[in-house]
Amino acid sequence: MASLTVRQLDDTLKRLLRLRAARHGRSMEDEVRVILRQAADEAGRDILDPSKPPAQSERQAKHDVTTARPRILLIIGGGIAAYKSLDLIRRLQDRGAQVRCILSGAAGHFVTPLAVGALCGERAYTDLFEPQSEFDVGHIRLARDTDLVVVAPATADLLAKMAGGHADDLATAVLLATNKPILVAPAMNPQMWSAKATQRNLAQLTADGIRVVGPNVGEMAERGEAGIGRMAEPLEIAAAVAAMTCRTGVLSGKRVLVTSGPTSEPIDPVRFIANRSSGKQGHAIASAAAAAGAHVVLVSGPANLPDPPGVSVVKIETAQQMLNAVEKAMPVDVAVFAAAVADWRPQHASESKIKKQPGRTPTLTLVENPDILSTVAHRETDRPQLVIGFAAETDHLVANARAKLAKKGCDWILANDVSPATGIMGGDTNTIHLISARGEESWPPQSKDEVARMLIERIVAALAGSER
Ligand code: C5P
Repeated sequence: MASLTVRQLDDTLKRLLRLRAARHGRSMEDEVRVILRQAADEAGRDILDPSKPPAQSERQAKHDVTTARPRILLIIGGGIAAYKSLDLIRRLQDRGAQVRCILSGAAGHFVTPLAVGALCGERAYTDLFEPQSEFDVGHIRLARDTDLVVVAPATADLLAKMAGGHADDLATAVLLATNKPILVAPAMNPQMWSAKATQRNLAQLTADGIRVVGPNVGEMAERGEAGIGRMAEPLEIAAAVAAMTCRTGVLSGKRVLVTSGPTSEPIDPVRFIANRSSGKQGHAIASAAAAAGAHVVLVSGPANLPDPPGVSVVKIETAQQMLNAVEKAMPVDVAVFAAAVADWRPQHASESKIKKQPGRTPTLTLVENPDILSTVAHRETDRPQLVIGFAAETDHLVANARAKLAKKGCDWILANDVSPATGIMGGDTNTIHLISARGEESWPPQSKDEVARMLIERIVAALAGSER
Protein backbone atom coordinates (compact mmCIF):
# COMPACT_ATOMS: atom_id res chain seq x y z
CA MET A 1 0.00 0.00 0.00
CA ALA A 2 1.38 3.43 -0.90
CA SER A 3 2.34 5.66 1.97
CA LEU A 4 1.81 9.37 2.15
CA THR A 5 3.44 11.87 4.46
CA VAL A 6 2.22 15.32 5.41
CA ARG A 7 5.38 16.73 3.86
CA GLN A 8 4.17 15.64 0.41
CA LEU A 9 1.06 17.82 0.59
CA ASP A 10 1.00 21.23 -1.05
CA ASP A 11 1.37 24.33 1.12
CA THR A 12 -2.26 25.44 1.11
CA LEU A 13 -3.45 21.96 2.04
CA LYS A 14 -0.80 21.77 4.75
CA ARG A 15 -1.92 25.12 6.19
CA LEU A 16 -5.58 24.04 6.21
CA LEU A 17 -4.63 20.76 7.84
CA ARG A 18 -2.57 22.56 10.49
CA LEU A 19 -5.51 24.87 11.33
CA ARG A 20 -7.95 21.96 11.44
CA ALA A 21 -5.64 19.88 13.64
CA ALA A 22 -5.11 22.83 15.99
CA ARG A 23 -8.84 23.37 16.27
CA HIS A 24 -9.30 19.75 17.34
CA GLY A 25 -6.20 19.74 19.56
CA ARG A 26 -4.51 16.95 17.54
CA SER A 27 -1.21 16.51 15.79
CA MET A 28 -1.36 16.87 12.00
CA GLU A 29 -0.69 13.15 11.57
CA ASP A 30 -3.55 12.29 13.93
CA GLU A 31 -5.85 14.65 12.07
CA VAL A 32 -5.01 12.90 8.78
CA ARG A 33 -5.76 9.54 10.41
CA VAL A 34 -9.20 10.79 11.54
CA ILE A 35 -10.00 12.19 8.09
CA LEU A 36 -8.95 8.98 6.38
CA ARG A 37 -10.87 6.83 8.82
CA GLN A 38 -14.06 8.88 8.31
CA ALA A 39 -13.68 8.87 4.52
CA ALA A 40 -12.94 5.14 4.35
CA ASP A 41 -15.81 4.42 6.69
CA GLU A 42 -18.30 6.39 4.61
CA ALA A 43 -17.17 5.24 1.18
CA GLY A 44 -16.03 1.76 2.08
CA ARG A 45 -19.04 0.20 3.70
CA ASP A 46 -21.12 -0.10 0.56
CA ILE A 47 -18.16 -1.26 -1.51
CA LEU A 48 -17.49 -4.06 0.97
CA ASP A 49 -21.08 -5.19 0.96
CA PRO A 50 -23.02 -4.30 -2.17
CA SER A 51 -26.11 -6.13 -0.90
CA LYS A 52 -26.35 -3.65 1.94
CA PRO A 53 -28.98 -0.91 1.62
CA PRO A 54 -27.50 2.45 0.65
CA ALA A 55 -25.72 4.23 3.46
CA GLN A 56 -27.54 7.01 5.25
CA SER A 57 -25.74 9.72 3.31
CA GLU A 58 -26.89 8.24 0.02
CA ARG A 59 -30.42 7.52 1.22
CA GLN A 60 -30.71 11.08 2.38
CA ALA A 61 -29.14 12.76 -0.62
CA LYS A 62 -32.45 12.72 -2.41
CA HIS A 63 -33.89 14.98 0.30
CA ASP A 64 -31.25 17.65 -0.10
CA VAL A 65 -33.42 19.81 -2.27
CA THR A 66 -36.35 20.07 0.06
CA THR A 67 -34.79 20.38 3.46
CA ALA A 68 -31.39 21.49 4.50
CA ARG A 69 -30.96 17.88 5.79
CA PRO A 70 -31.54 18.63 9.45
CA ARG A 71 -29.02 16.92 11.72
CA ILE A 72 -30.67 15.34 14.71
CA LEU A 73 -28.85 14.13 17.78
CA LEU A 74 -31.14 11.54 19.39
CA ILE A 75 -30.48 10.75 23.03
CA ILE A 76 -32.14 7.47 24.01
CA GLY A 77 -32.97 7.28 27.69
CA GLY A 78 -33.29 4.10 29.73
CA GLY A 79 -36.96 3.21 29.62
CA ILE A 80 -39.08 0.50 28.04
CA ALA A 81 -40.19 3.01 25.37
CA ALA A 82 -36.60 2.94 24.07
CA TYR A 83 -37.67 0.23 21.61
CA LYS A 84 -39.82 2.85 19.86
CA SER A 85 -36.75 5.00 19.38
CA LEU A 86 -35.53 2.53 16.78
CA ASP A 87 -38.63 3.31 14.75
CA LEU A 88 -38.14 7.02 15.49
CA ILE A 89 -34.69 6.87 13.84
CA ARG A 90 -36.35 5.56 10.67
CA ARG A 91 -39.16 8.14 10.79
CA LEU A 92 -36.64 10.97 11.13
CA GLN A 93 -34.57 9.57 8.26
CA ASP A 94 -37.74 9.24 6.18
CA ARG A 95 -38.10 12.99 6.57
CA GLY A 96 -34.57 13.55 5.32
CA ALA A 97 -32.87 13.97 8.70
CA GLN A 98 -29.37 12.80 9.44
CA VAL A 99 -29.55 10.98 12.76
CA ARG A 100 -26.77 10.41 15.25
CA CYS A 101 -27.47 8.62 18.56
CA ILE A 102 -26.31 8.62 22.14
CA LEU A 103 -27.47 5.88 24.47
CA SER A 104 -27.74 6.79 28.14
CA GLY A 105 -26.21 4.25 30.53
CA ALA A 106 -29.58 2.61 31.26
CA ALA A 107 -30.73 2.65 27.61
CA GLY A 108 -28.40 -0.26 26.92
CA HIS A 109 -30.73 -2.50 28.97
CA PHE A 110 -33.48 -1.94 26.41
CA VAL A 111 -31.78 -1.46 23.02
CA THR A 112 -28.29 -2.33 21.86
CA PRO A 113 -25.70 0.09 20.46
CA LEU A 114 -25.36 -2.36 17.55
CA ALA A 115 -29.03 -2.05 16.51
CA VAL A 116 -28.98 1.72 16.93
CA GLY A 117 -25.69 2.04 15.04
CA ALA A 118 -26.95 -0.13 12.19
CA LEU A 119 -30.01 2.09 11.74
CA CYS A 120 -28.05 5.33 11.98
CA GLY A 121 -25.28 4.25 9.64
CA GLU A 122 -22.70 5.32 12.22
CA ARG A 123 -21.75 4.03 15.64
CA ALA A 124 -23.93 4.83 18.62
CA TYR A 125 -22.16 6.86 21.31
CA THR A 126 -22.36 5.63 24.89
CA ASP A 127 -19.47 6.75 27.10
CA LEU A 128 -18.17 10.12 28.15
CA PHE A 129 -14.66 8.84 28.75
CA GLU A 130 -14.44 6.41 25.86
CA PRO A 131 -11.13 7.23 24.13
CA GLN A 132 -12.34 6.35 20.64
CA SER A 133 -15.41 8.59 20.62
CA GLU A 134 -13.58 11.45 22.32
CA PHE A 135 -10.84 11.08 19.73
CA ASP A 136 -13.24 10.84 16.78
CA VAL A 137 -15.84 13.39 17.73
CA GLY A 138 -15.65 14.56 21.31
CA HIS A 139 -18.71 15.31 23.43
CA ILE A 140 -18.56 19.03 22.68
CA ARG A 141 -18.72 18.39 18.95
CA LEU A 142 -21.51 15.88 19.45
CA ALA A 143 -23.39 18.63 21.28
CA ARG A 144 -22.76 21.28 18.64
CA ASP A 145 -22.69 19.45 15.27
CA THR A 146 -26.44 19.12 15.19
CA ASP A 147 -29.51 21.24 14.52
CA LEU A 148 -31.65 19.78 17.26
CA VAL A 149 -31.22 17.47 20.24
CA VAL A 150 -34.10 15.06 20.84
CA VAL A 151 -34.42 13.06 24.05
CA ALA A 152 -36.69 10.04 23.55
CA PRO A 153 -37.61 8.45 25.81
CA ALA A 154 -36.94 11.14 28.40
CA THR A 155 -37.16 9.28 31.70
CA ALA A 156 -38.02 10.97 35.02
CA ASP A 157 -34.37 10.57 36.01
CA LEU A 158 -33.05 12.18 32.82
CA LEU A 159 -35.48 15.10 33.15
CA ALA A 160 -34.37 15.61 36.77
CA LYS A 161 -30.71 15.59 35.76
CA MET A 162 -31.38 18.04 32.93
CA ALA A 163 -33.30 20.38 35.23
CA GLY A 164 -30.47 20.21 37.77
CA GLY A 165 -27.69 20.71 35.20
CA HIS A 166 -25.96 17.38 35.88
CA ALA A 167 -23.21 16.23 33.52
CA ASP A 168 -22.04 12.89 34.90
CA ASP A 169 -22.38 10.84 31.72
CA LEU A 170 -22.26 11.40 27.97
CA ALA A 171 -26.01 12.09 27.55
CA THR A 172 -26.23 14.69 30.32
CA ALA A 173 -22.86 16.27 29.46
CA VAL A 174 -24.00 16.76 25.87
CA LEU A 175 -27.37 18.14 27.00
CA LEU A 176 -25.58 20.67 29.18
CA ALA A 177 -22.99 21.54 26.53
CA THR A 178 -25.31 21.99 23.59
CA ASN A 179 -26.22 25.39 22.20
CA LYS A 180 -28.97 23.89 20.03
CA PRO A 181 -32.73 23.57 20.72
CA ILE A 182 -33.81 20.53 22.73
CA LEU A 183 -37.01 18.51 22.37
CA VAL A 184 -37.92 15.95 25.02
CA ALA A 185 -40.45 13.09 24.70
CA PRO A 186 -41.15 12.03 28.29
CA ALA A 187 -42.11 8.43 29.03
CA MET A 188 -42.72 7.03 32.46
CA ASN A 189 -45.24 5.46 34.81
CA PRO A 190 -48.28 7.75 35.47
CA GLN A 191 -47.38 8.09 39.16
CA MET A 192 -43.86 9.15 38.30
CA TRP A 193 -45.21 11.61 35.73
CA SER A 194 -47.64 13.25 38.15
CA ALA A 195 -45.12 13.31 41.03
CA LYS A 196 -44.50 16.85 42.23
CA ALA A 197 -40.76 16.55 41.62
CA THR A 198 -41.26 15.55 37.97
CA GLN A 199 -43.74 18.35 37.36
CA ARG A 200 -41.36 20.82 39.05
CA ASN A 201 -38.51 19.64 36.82
CA LEU A 202 -40.68 19.86 33.75
CA ALA A 203 -41.78 23.42 34.62
CA GLN A 204 -38.10 24.33 35.00
CA LEU A 205 -37.17 22.75 31.67
CA THR A 206 -40.05 24.49 29.89
CA ALA A 207 -38.99 27.80 31.43
CA ASP A 208 -35.46 27.08 30.15
CA GLY A 209 -36.88 26.88 26.61
CA ILE A 210 -36.90 23.11 26.25
CA ARG A 211 -39.79 21.84 24.11
CA VAL A 212 -41.91 18.87 25.13
CA VAL A 213 -43.91 16.39 23.01
CA GLY A 214 -46.31 14.05 24.83
CA PRO A 215 -46.61 12.03 26.93
CA ASN A 216 -49.84 10.40 25.78
CA VAL A 217 -52.53 8.62 27.72
CA GLY A 218 -52.64 4.84 27.40
CA GLU A 219 -51.63 1.42 28.63
CA MET A 220 -48.31 1.17 30.46
CA ALA A 221 -45.78 -1.62 30.06
CA GLU A 222 -46.75 -2.76 33.56
CA ARG A 223 -49.77 -5.05 33.43
CA GLY A 224 -53.07 -3.35 34.26
CA GLU A 225 -51.61 0.14 34.57
CA ALA A 226 -52.93 2.94 32.41
CA GLY A 227 -52.80 6.71 32.48
CA ILE A 228 -50.67 9.57 31.23
CA GLY A 229 -47.06 8.61 30.63
CA ARG A 230 -46.79 6.77 27.29
CA MET A 231 -44.12 8.21 25.04
CA ALA A 232 -45.53 10.12 22.05
CA GLU A 233 -45.62 7.95 18.93
CA PRO A 234 -42.53 8.14 16.66
CA LEU A 235 -44.59 9.88 13.96
CA GLU A 236 -45.70 12.57 16.43
CA ILE A 237 -42.14 13.12 17.57
CA ALA A 238 -40.92 13.25 13.96
CA ALA A 239 -43.62 15.84 13.18
CA ALA A 240 -42.56 17.96 16.17
CA VAL A 241 -38.94 17.70 14.97
CA ALA A 242 -39.99 18.76 11.47
CA ALA A 243 -41.85 21.77 12.87
CA MET A 244 -38.78 22.77 14.92
CA THR A 245 -36.31 22.41 12.05
CA CYS A 246 -38.38 23.86 9.23
CA ARG A 247 -37.08 27.44 9.54
CA THR A 248 -34.21 26.77 7.20
CA GLY A 249 -36.34 24.91 4.66
CA VAL A 250 -36.05 25.72 1.00
CA LEU A 251 -39.72 26.69 0.75
CA SER A 252 -39.45 29.35 3.42
CA GLY A 253 -41.20 32.53 2.34
CA LYS A 254 -43.52 30.56 0.04
CA ARG A 255 -47.24 30.15 0.58
CA VAL A 256 -48.65 26.73 -0.18
CA LEU A 257 -52.32 25.78 -0.20
CA VAL A 258 -53.40 22.15 0.06
CA THR A 259 -56.90 20.70 -0.07
CA SER A 260 -57.42 17.32 1.55
CA GLY A 261 -59.99 14.73 2.57
CA PRO A 262 -63.50 14.15 1.30
CA THR A 263 -66.31 16.66 1.24
CA SER A 264 -69.61 15.87 2.87
CA GLU A 265 -72.79 17.09 1.16
CA PRO A 266 -75.85 17.11 3.40
CA ILE A 267 -79.10 15.44 2.41
CA ASP A 268 -80.72 16.30 5.72
CA PRO A 269 -79.31 16.92 9.23
CA VAL A 270 -78.26 13.27 9.64
CA ARG A 271 -77.56 12.02 6.12
CA PHE A 272 -74.94 13.07 3.64
CA ILE A 273 -73.11 12.15 0.44
CA ALA A 274 -69.40 11.52 0.94
CA ASN A 275 -66.62 9.27 -0.32
CA ARG A 276 -63.83 7.04 0.96
CA SER A 277 -60.99 9.56 0.87
CA SER A 278 -58.93 9.37 4.09
CA GLY A 279 -57.08 12.67 3.61
CA LYS A 280 -53.75 10.91 4.25
CA GLN A 281 -52.10 12.08 1.02
CA GLY A 282 -53.22 15.70 1.31
CA HIS A 283 -52.22 15.89 4.98
CA ALA A 284 -48.81 14.36 4.16
CA ILE A 285 -48.26 17.01 1.47
CA ALA A 286 -49.19 19.81 3.87
CA SER A 287 -46.82 18.34 6.45
CA ALA A 288 -43.93 18.01 3.98
CA ALA A 289 -44.45 21.56 2.69
CA ALA A 290 -44.37 22.87 6.27
CA ALA A 291 -41.25 20.81 6.98
CA ALA A 292 -39.65 22.49 3.97
CA GLY A 293 -40.38 25.87 5.58
CA ALA A 294 -43.48 26.97 3.63
CA HIS A 295 -46.41 28.80 5.17
CA VAL A 296 -49.09 26.19 4.62
CA VAL A 297 -52.87 26.49 4.62
CA LEU A 298 -54.60 23.12 4.66
CA VAL A 299 -58.29 23.19 3.76
CA SER A 300 -59.63 19.85 4.84
CA GLY A 301 -62.93 18.03 4.67
CA PRO A 302 -63.88 15.61 7.46
CA ALA A 303 -60.77 13.44 7.92
CA ASN A 304 -59.94 11.35 10.93
CA LEU A 305 -56.37 12.62 11.16
CA PRO A 306 -54.48 14.91 13.54
CA ASP A 307 -53.70 18.42 12.29
CA PRO A 308 -50.18 18.46 10.84
CA PRO A 309 -47.92 20.56 13.08
CA GLY A 310 -47.01 24.04 11.91
CA VAL A 311 -49.87 24.15 9.40
CA SER A 312 -52.92 26.49 9.42
CA VAL A 313 -55.85 24.11 9.15
CA VAL A 314 -59.27 25.25 7.94
CA LYS A 315 -61.92 22.59 8.49
CA ILE A 316 -64.88 22.54 6.15
CA GLU A 317 -67.60 20.08 5.18
CA THR A 318 -69.03 20.93 1.78
CA ALA A 319 -67.44 21.67 -1.61
CA GLN A 320 -68.88 25.20 -1.54
CA GLN A 321 -67.25 25.80 1.88
CA MET A 322 -63.99 24.38 0.52
CA LEU A 323 -64.09 26.80 -2.42
CA ASN A 324 -64.77 29.75 -0.07
CA ALA A 325 -61.85 28.77 2.19
CA VAL A 326 -59.55 28.31 -0.81
CA GLU A 327 -60.47 31.74 -2.21
CA LYS A 328 -59.82 33.24 1.22
CA ALA A 329 -56.34 31.70 1.37
CA MET A 330 -55.28 33.33 -1.92
CA PRO A 331 -52.80 34.51 -3.05
CA VAL A 332 -50.48 31.52 -2.77
CA ASP A 333 -47.40 30.45 -4.70
CA VAL A 334 -48.42 26.82 -5.03
CA ALA A 335 -51.83 25.14 -4.75
CA VAL A 336 -52.17 21.37 -4.44
CA PHE A 337 -55.66 19.92 -4.78
CA ALA A 338 -55.61 16.52 -3.13
CA ALA A 339 -59.18 16.60 -1.82
CA ALA A 340 -61.76 14.17 -3.16
CA VAL A 341 -64.46 16.75 -3.73
CA ALA A 342 -67.97 15.36 -4.21
CA ASP A 343 -68.97 15.99 -7.81
CA TRP A 344 -72.60 16.59 -6.89
CA ARG A 345 -74.65 17.74 -3.95
CA PRO A 346 -78.36 17.44 -3.24
CA GLN A 347 -80.08 20.46 -4.71
CA HIS A 348 -81.95 21.07 -1.48
CA ALA A 349 -80.71 19.87 1.88
CA SER A 350 -83.74 19.26 4.06
CA GLU A 351 -83.68 21.18 7.35
CA SER A 352 -85.37 18.35 9.19
CA LYS A 353 -84.77 14.61 9.00
CA ILE A 354 -86.55 13.14 5.99
CA LYS A 355 -89.12 10.67 7.31
CA LYS A 356 -89.46 7.19 5.94
CA GLN A 357 -92.94 6.82 4.42
CA PRO A 358 -94.39 3.40 3.58
CA GLY A 359 -94.32 2.74 -0.15
CA ARG A 360 -92.61 6.04 -1.01
CA THR A 361 -88.96 6.45 -1.90
CA PRO A 362 -87.66 10.00 -1.90
CA THR A 363 -85.99 11.26 -5.06
CA LEU A 364 -82.73 13.14 -4.70
CA THR A 365 -82.09 15.84 -7.24
CA LEU A 366 -78.38 16.49 -7.53
CA VAL A 367 -76.62 19.58 -8.80
CA GLU A 368 -72.97 19.88 -9.78
CA ASN A 369 -70.48 21.23 -7.28
CA PRO A 370 -68.03 23.97 -8.26
CA ASP A 371 -64.76 22.63 -9.58
CA ILE A 372 -62.30 24.20 -7.15
CA LEU A 373 -59.13 23.15 -8.98
CA SER A 374 -60.40 24.45 -12.30
CA THR A 375 -61.63 27.70 -10.72
CA VAL A 376 -58.19 28.42 -9.24
CA ALA A 377 -56.29 27.30 -12.37
CA HIS A 378 -58.35 29.72 -14.49
CA ARG A 379 -57.96 32.73 -12.19
CA GLU A 380 -57.08 35.84 -14.12
CA THR A 381 -55.45 37.58 -11.19
CA ASP A 382 -53.27 36.03 -8.53
CA ARG A 383 -53.15 32.61 -10.20
CA PRO A 384 -50.69 30.48 -8.19
CA GLN A 385 -47.41 29.91 -9.99
CA LEU A 386 -48.04 26.18 -9.80
CA VAL A 387 -51.48 24.56 -9.71
CA ILE A 388 -51.42 20.81 -9.08
CA GLY A 389 -54.34 18.40 -9.22
CA PHE A 390 -54.83 14.69 -8.61
CA ALA A 391 -56.59 12.20 -10.81
CA ALA A 392 -57.89 9.08 -9.17
CA GLU A 393 -58.60 6.70 -12.03
CA THR A 394 -59.58 3.07 -12.36
CA ASP A 395 -58.73 2.69 -16.07
CA HIS A 396 -56.79 4.37 -18.90
CA LEU A 397 -54.89 6.12 -16.15
CA VAL A 398 -52.45 8.26 -18.10
CA ALA A 399 -54.76 9.11 -21.02
CA ASN A 400 -57.53 10.20 -18.67
CA ALA A 401 -55.11 12.20 -16.53
CA ARG A 402 -53.71 14.00 -19.56
CA ALA A 403 -57.24 14.91 -20.68
CA LYS A 404 -57.91 16.17 -17.17
CA LEU A 405 -54.79 18.35 -17.22
CA ALA A 406 -56.09 20.11 -20.32
CA LYS A 407 -59.67 20.34 -19.13
CA LYS A 408 -58.87 21.75 -15.71
CA GLY A 409 -56.10 24.10 -16.89
CA CYS A 410 -53.70 23.01 -14.14
CA ASP A 411 -49.93 22.62 -14.50
CA TRP A 412 -49.46 19.11 -13.18
CA ILE A 413 -51.69 16.14 -12.53
CA LEU A 414 -50.64 13.39 -10.16
CA ALA A 415 -52.48 10.37 -11.45
CA ASN A 416 -53.03 7.29 -9.33
CA ASP A 417 -54.78 4.02 -9.91
CA VAL A 418 -57.52 3.61 -7.30
CA SER A 419 -58.97 0.29 -8.44
CA PRO A 420 -60.09 -1.54 -5.28
CA ALA A 421 -57.29 -4.12 -5.71
CA THR A 422 -54.61 -1.43 -5.25
CA GLY A 423 -55.76 -0.58 -1.70
CA ILE A 424 -54.75 3.06 -2.31
CA MET A 425 -58.06 4.54 -1.15
CA GLY A 426 -57.58 4.82 2.62
CA GLY A 427 -54.27 2.91 2.47
CA ASP A 428 -50.78 4.12 3.28
CA THR A 429 -49.08 3.75 -0.10
CA ASN A 430 -49.47 5.35 -3.49
CA THR A 431 -48.16 4.86 -7.04
CA ILE A 432 -48.00 8.15 -8.88
CA HIS A 433 -47.59 9.25 -12.48
CA LEU A 434 -46.77 12.93 -12.75
CA ILE A 435 -48.28 14.35 -15.93
CA SER A 436 -47.33 17.84 -17.12
CA ALA A 437 -47.02 19.70 -20.42
CA ARG A 438 -43.36 18.65 -20.41
CA GLY A 439 -44.05 14.93 -20.27
CA GLU A 440 -44.77 12.11 -17.91
CA GLU A 441 -42.87 10.65 -14.98
CA SER A 442 -43.72 7.39 -13.19
CA TRP A 443 -42.83 7.16 -9.53
CA PRO A 444 -42.27 3.85 -7.73
CA PRO A 445 -44.90 2.53 -5.30
CA GLN A 446 -44.11 4.26 -2.02
CA SER A 447 -45.61 5.59 1.18
CA LYS A 448 -47.84 8.66 1.00
CA ASP A 449 -45.22 10.52 3.08
CA GLU A 450 -42.58 9.66 0.49
CA VAL A 451 -44.89 10.79 -2.33
CA ALA A 452 -45.37 14.06 -0.47
CA ARG A 453 -41.64 14.64 -0.16
CA MET A 454 -41.00 13.78 -3.80
CA LEU A 455 -43.70 16.23 -4.81
CA ILE A 456 -42.13 18.96 -2.66
CA GLU A 457 -38.78 18.25 -4.33
CA ARG A 458 -40.38 18.70 -7.75
CA ILE A 459 -42.10 21.87 -6.59
CA VAL A 460 -38.84 23.33 -5.28
CA ALA A 461 -37.09 22.51 -8.57
CA ALA A 462 -39.94 23.99 -10.60
CA LEU A 463 -40.06 27.22 -8.56
CA ALA A 464 -36.28 27.55 -8.84
CA GLY A 465 -36.33 27.07 -12.60
CA SER A 466 -39.67 28.85 -13.08
CA GLU A 467 -40.67 25.87 -15.17
CA ARG A 468 -44.00 24.08 -15.01
O1 C5P B 1 -62.68 15.67 -11.90
P1 C5P B 1 -61.96 14.92 -10.82
O2 C5P B 1 -62.73 14.83 -9.55
O3 C5P B 1 -61.43 13.59 -11.25
O4 C5P B 1 -60.66 15.82 -10.54
C1 C5P B 1 -59.76 15.53 -9.54
C2 C5P B 1 -58.98 16.75 -9.19
O5 C5P B 1 -59.79 17.92 -9.18
C3 C5P B 1 -58.45 16.66 -7.80
O6 C5P B 1 -57.24 17.39 -7.75
C4 C5P B 1 -59.52 17.31 -6.96
O7 C5P B 1 -59.02 17.81 -5.73
C5 C5P B 1 -59.98 18.43 -7.87
N1 C5P B 1 -61.40 18.77 -7.75
C6 C5P B 1 -61.77 19.99 -7.24
N2 C5P B 1 -63.09 20.33 -7.19
C7 C5P B 1 -64.04 19.48 -7.63
C8 C5P B 1 -63.67 18.22 -8.15
C9 C5P B 1 -62.35 17.89 -8.19
O8 C5P B 1 -60.91 20.76 -6.81
N3 C5P B 1 -65.31 19.82 -7.57
